Amino acid sequence: MPASSAPTAVSPTGTVRSGGAPTVPGLPLTAFSGATRSTVTGYEPPYIASWLALPGAPALTEAQDMWADAEISKFLAEWADGDFDAGDTGPRPELNIAPQPTAVGDTAIGVRMMRYEFGGASGANSLHTIWYSRPDEKALTTSALFTEGGFLQLRDAVVATLGSDENMHQNSVEALAAQEAEQLGATFDSVNFRPDGSLVVELDQYAIAAGSEGLVEVIFTSESSAAWLSPFGEAAQAAAASPMPEDASPEPTPASSPSRAAPKRPDCSATPCVAITFDDGPGAHTGKLLDILKEAEVPATFFVLGPNVEMYPDLMQRMIQEGHQVGNHTWSHRQLTQLSDDEIRAEHSKTADAVEAAAGSRPHTMRPPYGAQDETVRKALSGEGGDPLILWDVDTLDWRTRDAASTIRSVKEDSQPGSIVLMHDIHASTVEAVPGVVEALEAKGYTLVTVDQLLATESPAPGTVHTHGPRVS
Ligand code: NI
Repeated sequence: MPASSAPTAVSPTGTVRSGGAPTVPGLPLTAFSGATRSTVTGYEPPYIASWLALPGAPALTEAQDMWADAEISKFLAEWADGDFDAGDTGPRPELNIAPQPTAVGDTAIGVRMMRYEFGGASGANSLHTIWYSRPDEKALTTSALFTEGGFLQLRDAVVATLGSDENMHQNSVEALAAQEAEQLGATFDSVNFRPDGSLVVELDQYAIAAGSEGLVEVIFTSESSAAWLSPFGEAAQAAAASPMPEDASPEPTPASSPSRAAPKRPDCSATPCVAITFDDGPGAHTGKLLDILKEAEVPATFFVLGPNVEMYPDLMQRMIQEGHQVGNHTWSHRQLTQLSDDEIRAEHSKTADAVEAAAGSRPHTMRPPYGAQDETVRKALSGEGGDPLILWDVDTLDWRTRDAASTIRSVKEDSQPGSIVLMHDIHASTVEAVPGVVEALEAKGYTLVTVDQLLATESPAPGTVHTHGPRVS
């Protein structure tokens, strides 16, 4: 029997680790100078996907975008046949995709797409890493990291290592041993390097072991994996080991509170007010939105996501300085009804910390992603350190229509005194709608206010839910 088809001849040189988050660290989202972060969300059923747009690397941006689009399409197709009812109060399916750079070098860039899907009964984590060659301006799959023979040697070493671990499904390991290079690219679709140069094959939850094992990693030292790597693989390994570029350091935190004069505070218990709110940003269109709001002299409330806050500290500072309210929309935009008390509080506090670091003040309202909340969520966010939960009574469906005229029409027809209007500043079409939205609300005689101003007479307590303010006529 030729040695190449006899994995048993290979000794288990790697080590297996399972559970928890991947051990190859994610680099800060600000690792790329001039990068932007794009986000799309949908509610029926709930999904969110983000990706990084990197100046000078359009093919890498496009590869992330296309991968995320394909995953969303699969997810929506799966739940298209009425299996999902938007009115259900029980656990709803959910898809969550977030990008994480793992290597940034002059030749090679790696971006790992972290994917979580909840199918109604159980959740699964999976990883997919997109590699990019700067000289070739091309997005690449894992196989580009290896010589052709090296990829098969990696396979045999993974098989030998997993074969010596009784927690791994041995029938899956045997199937892996039979895979040729073309199939291997899909099976080993996430390979990364630790700063010490060791190579990590990241296997999805459920792929090779029971779901309770979580993500499975097979790790090889840089010595034992050196012979497998292609020149591009060596560049990727070096990129993961090198420190971040100097210009990636975060913005200094402004120490003082805004110098802006206190805005006049309308009495929303006596005069009809409406609060317009923007979720899921900040993003590439938020700067333009702030310009429009400034021009119109209208305040808004932004429910922001932690990673986007880190990406755009300047926009966060502008929001505060220009009299807007910043609210907490969690870190990873998971349905909080699926999480434990501790996880809910961590989602909340991590984002509050990021806002404080970027803009100098801490949010004191919270909007749960997809509006999903229950007794556990309310309890976790009650008391000291918690926040009132701010929902809405006007749903513009801007995320679905992506049409400025529809957004304006929805606000015009559905708003009433005390309304809280839900929009998303991650869409250009929504930002385009805002002058018309403001005009429509002012034409109805409403004063535009922040959520704080709208709910001032209620003094909302942490853990309480609010969908609108006073209904004065
Ligand atoms: Ni959201």
